[in-house]
Amino acid sequence: MSAPKPILIDTDPGLDDLLALVLALRSPAVDVRAITVVAGNVSVDACTANALRILEAVDINPPPVFRGCAKPLSPSVTRAEHVHGDDGAGGVSEAWPVQHLQIESAHAVDAMLDFARRHPGELTLIALGPLTNVAMALEQDPAALANIREIVVMGGSGDGRGNVTPKAEFNFYSDPYAARAVIRSGLPVTAVGLNVTEKTLLSRARFHERLASMEEGTLRRFLFDATGPYFDYAMQKRGRDACPLHDPLAVGAAMDPSLIRTQRMVCDVVDKKGPDRGMMTAEPAGDASDAPTMQVAMEVAAERFLGLFLEVVCG
Ligand code: BDR
Ligand code: CA
Repeated sequence: MSAPKPILIDTDPGLDDLLALVLALRSPAVDVRAITVVAGNVSVDACTANALRILEAVDINPPPVFRGCAKPLSPSVTRAEHVHGDDGAGGVSEAWPVQHLQIESAHAVDAMLDFARRHPGELTLIALGPLTNVAMALEQDPAALANIREIVVMGGSGDGRGNVTPKAEFNFYSDPYAARAVIRSGLPVTAVGLNVTEKTLLSRARFHERLASMEEGTLRRFLFDATGPYFDYAMQKRGRDACPLHDPLAVGAAMDPSLIRTQRMVCDVVDKKGPDRGMMTAEPAGDASDAPTMQVAMEVAAERFLGLFLEVVCG
C-alpha cells in the first residue's frame, strides 16, 4: 500500500464537516497534519470547539487545530444553524463538552502558510467551508501557498445549482470574494460541488444499520446523537430521510481521485449583491485560452464512495 497522502483540512464544523473529519482521521489513505478552522456554518469559536470535540470522540493521536478567520472577506455574514444546529453539532455540545484538547496559539492562516513553506509540493489542502482562510493565505503570501500540491474544495456546483439560493452553494455564497480569489488564482484547485455531492445520499436507515454493528464506544454514540438533526433537516426540507455527504465527498476525492470524473473549466463566482450572489459559472477551457482554470467534478461513483465512507467511518 502506498504511503498516506499528507493533508491539511480547512473546515467549519458543521455536521457534514464532522463526518468528513472522521473519514479523514480514520482513513489509512490520508494523514491529517493539521486542522484549520474558519467561520461558516456557525461562529468560528463554535466551529473550533466542534473540531476539538470530534478529535476527542475519534480518540487518535490528534493533529493540531488552529482557529482562523471569524468573518468573511465579503461584507455580510451567512450562517447555517438551521441545518447544523445553533452549536453546529446538532445541539449535542453540552452533552459532549470538550474535555482536554486545546487549540494552538497560531492563527490558522499563518499555520497554513507555515505548513506550505515547510513541505513544498507535498501537501493536499482540503477546504470544506467558506474560503476565507485560504484567500487570506493567498493574499498574504501567494508564493508560499503555491507550495500546496493540490487544493480540493467543497463548493459551488458544476451545473449551476444552489442550496442557499437557487443558484448559489453555501460555501461560495458565504464568502464569494474569497471563493472568487481562490478559484481564479490558477492554483491547482479541484471543486467538488453540489452536482456531485447531492448524488452521495446517505440514508438514516443505512447509517444506523452500520452504526449498530460498530464497536460500542464514544465515537459511535457521538455520531448517533449528533447526526439526528441533520437527517431531520433533510426530511423536513426535501421529504427524504437521507442527507448529502457534501464535505465527506471532498475528502473522498482526495483519498481516491478515481471516485470523481473532472473537467478542466474556466470558472468564476458572482461576488456582487443580488440574486446571483455566490453563483459559480463554469465554461469548458478551450486550448487557446490562457484564463486560469480549475478541475470541476462532473460525475461521481456515488455507491462506491458511500461504501468506502461507511467502511472507514463505522468499520
Ligand atoms: C456546504 O455547506 C455547509 O453547510 C456544509 O458544511 C458544506 O460544506 C454544502 O453546501
Ligand atoms: Ca462545511
